Amino acid sequence: MILVTGGAGYIGSHAVLELLLAGHDVLVLDNLCNSSRIALQRVEQLAGRTLHFVKGDIRRRAQLDALFAQYPIEAVLHFAGLKAVGESVRHPLNYYDNNVGGSLTLCQAMADAGVFRLVFSSSATVYGTPATVPINEQAATGLPTNPYGQSKLMVENLLRDLANADPRWSIALLRYFNPIGAHESGLIGEDPCGIPNNLLPYITQVAIGRLEQLNVYGADYPTPDGTGIRDYIHVVDLAKGHLLALEKLRQVKGAHIWNLGTGQGHSVLELIRVFEEITQTRLPYRLAPRREGDIAACWADPTKAERELGWKAERGLTAMIADAWRWQVQNPSGYRVTDRVKESIKRIPASPISGNIQREAVMTRTGTSSANALL
Ligand code: NAD
Ligand code: WQD
Repeated sequence: MILVTGGAGYIGSHAVLELLLAGHDVLVLDNLCNSSRIALQRVEQLAGRTLHFVKGDIRRRAQLDALFAQYPIEAVLHFAGLKAVGESVRHPLNYYDNNVGGSLTLCQAMADAGVFRLVFSSSATVYGTPATVPINEQAATGLPTNPYGQSKLMVENLLRDLANADPRWSIALLRYFNPIGAHESGLIGEDPCGIPNNLLPYITQVAIGRLEQLNVYGADYPTPDGTGIRDYIHVVDLAKGHLLALEKLRQVKGAHIWNLGTGQGHSVLELIRVFEEITQTRLPYRLAPRREGDIAACWADPTKAERELGWKAERGLTAMIADAWRWQVQNPSGYRVTDRVKESIKRIPASPISGNIQREAVMTRTGTSSANALL
């Protein structure tokens, strides 16, 4: 059985689906601070199999110990953490507590339970401002400009020290570039809380009318069209990379870094153009000043992952954007229950004995069927 921390989240839910499809048994531990249980119900629907879910927190050592005692866990995919760059600047303690403290507690519990195979969600943000592109794994890590990036680098260092100190560990440090897109069914996808920070969810929310217009942050970068260039990677390709890393860790000890990107850079204006082509609409946008902390260009050299894991991204930008758009159109409020459904829940009379339970059950049923009605 594979323990997936943060498995209800955007990338985690796609990875859980791939694990189930590949025949693994899966236990998800998630505190749902940035996700919904509905994502996992949809994963089960797509996989045609059930999974185990525990609502809980990676910082709670007793809870982790109980899980390792109860389930035959052989390896861990560790996605749980906070990821909003701006929020990390305002609330650094939350980020160090969740991302660094949580990872530390998880590793302690794993070691005591005798589980030594771990795949960690790292980020290209650890490269800081790259000296050259494409970036390979030998490139020096930079100085991340925010606590979120620092927390990723700190956990990478912690895991490297751990693998150096104890040869029983097999650890993958997967450095994701820019994950976008959604499962092609449109049933699971990215569901950011509040106003999205990332480009593609912002674009889809403008297109659907939830936001007014896109700000293109910086048109004066030293790039062909002046806008920032990134290596966007389809979340399903990314999820598949985790399964291959998990298999590779059966054969190798120590901590290993793999970039997960396509090796192709695309500019902001290019994304807008492809989005407009796919949707046959005009996207309202304006050129705005650069966003603090942004870099001009960043894309991966993914050849190490291809050579060592046999992994290569298969989906191009058109598929990424088409899939993200399908998810957005089919789920205009993400996994959240719409106002219309909330109204109908308010009208349900509460039973004097089990009012809350009854309401919750009805809400889940109504929420799911209403979401399915949109499909
Ligand atoms: P997400 O917020 O959708 O998923 C993270 C999940 O972890 C959520 O379901 C959340 O509820 C859960 N969680 C948070 N703190 C927890 C805790 N203390 N205990 C238990 N569960 C907790 O984010 P995502 O985009 O799916 O990212 C997954 C991982 O990948 C994160 O570690 C993130 O830093 C990393 N990453 C993401 C990106 C990206 O652009 N999305 C890029 C690089 C790396
Ligand atoms: C992409 C491009 C923006 C929003 C961030 C994190 C990184 C990683 C992935 C977790 C840039 C431009 C964006 C908008 C815009 N996350 N943009 N208007 O900044 O490359 O990476 O997410 O690990 O750590 O820093 O991604 O999607 O925010 O931006 O013009 O409203 O789109 O300037 O060029 P980024 P992004």
